Amino acid sequence: MNKLIIFLSTIFAIMLLSVSCKKNIDTVQNPKPDNSTPFVPEQTLKEKAPFPIGASIDPTHLKTNLRYKNVLIKEFNSITPENMMKMNMIQPAPNRFDYTKADELVNFAIQDKKRIHGHALIWHESLPTWVQNFQGDSLAWENLFKTHIQTVVGYYKGKLAGWDVVNEAIGNDGGTRNDNTNQGSIWRRKLGADYVARAFLYARQADPDVLLFYNDYGQESNPKKLQAIISLVQDLKRRNIPIDGLGLQMHIDINTSEAGINYAIQESVKTGLKIHISEIDIALNPSNSTLEKPTAEMLERQRQKYLMVVRAYKNLVPKAQQYGITQWNVGDADSWIRSYLKRNDFPLIFDVNYDRKPSYYGVLEGFK
Ligand code: G3I
Repeated sequence: MNKLIIFLSTIFAIMLLSVSCKKNIDTVQNPKPDNSTPFVPEQTLKEKAPFPIGASIDPTHLKTNLRYKNVLIKEFNSITPENMMKMNMIQPAPNRFDYTKADELVNFAIQDKKRIHGHALIWHESLPTWVQNFQGDSLAWENLFKTHIQTVVGYYKGKLAGWDVVNEAIGNDGGTRNDNTNQGSIWRRKLGADYVARAFLYARQADPDVLLFYNDYGQESNPKKLQAIISLVQDLKRRNIPIDGLGLQMHIDINTSEAGINYAIQESVKTGLKIHISEIDIALNPSNSTLEKPTAEMLERQRQKYLMVVRAYKNLVPKAQQYGITQWNVGDADSWIRSYLKRNDFPLIFDVNYDRKPSYYGVLEGFK
């Protein structure tokens, strides 16, 4: 028995010795990494993007949510005020211009050296009630229209890179919204179809340098509307109306046809204008079903669609026409689809905690 114990103890001692020798050899052959090597942080969107990359932003989130602010600072180099430059916010009463909230965003962007894209001077939505109820002849309407454009553009002269001068003037039927439904435009009814051209002329008079955009949605899924938008801007160009760019909002979903997206970009490029993918989001839940959490398959399809759009933009839009891509909102929690459409969706590249989603990496891959 004693002999057996001595034998087993010897074997155990030999094993221990060999493990300790191996450790020593490993330490010599595979030294620990040199901690004096500088740490290279993971690169962010704005560092990798070959064109400006933006997000639409809101001052309340910026002030109250540190994660939102940090992601914005770290990842994006362009901003669009989501709502604070709309007419109801900026001219809430006749000739009372209130830039307080818009300026919070503009000052933040200037301090952080981000480009600012103004949104939107003339739109049939988000109008103050005084405009909706305004009674006046065509001269009075023209004066109201011109004053709004020139006061706001003049105030921000030299600070903004571009303006959405007219937003969504074309209806889903390809017409000019000359009707009394909630699809109709008060500007079209009061000022005639050529108000679009005059808006651009007035804006140019107020700032000779800022880039002037026409912005609309649905080009990728509605060829008739796409064609109407192209005809509108071609007509403006033919008449030497000062227009510099075309915004394709790109509120799409994971089922949107790739052919439609490519076609809309290609046709828009032919106008020679700068192209802004101005409000992108890619919804997972367009049919509004109960969706607590996105599935891995949905997130993968969303990644592929972001990749596809960014790659198409990079490859189909000549460098000189690339104004950039702007995401509408920052993280899934603050998407307008939740607050405005009241739909539970996850359409962006940052999740509700502002962490990177698979779609984020789709965008990064699209830059290559
Ligand atoms: O801030 C007020 C709040 O004080 C009030 O209690 C609440 C009650 O309704 O409304 C809040 O304002 C809302 C605002 O969003 C901020 O959440 C407005 O009602 C609501 O109309 C507004 O919706 C915006 C919508 O445009 C209309 O202006 C969305 O946030 C904004 O994302 C959306 O953006 C548009 C682009 O401008 C043009 N392209 C389409 C895009 C999506 O619809």
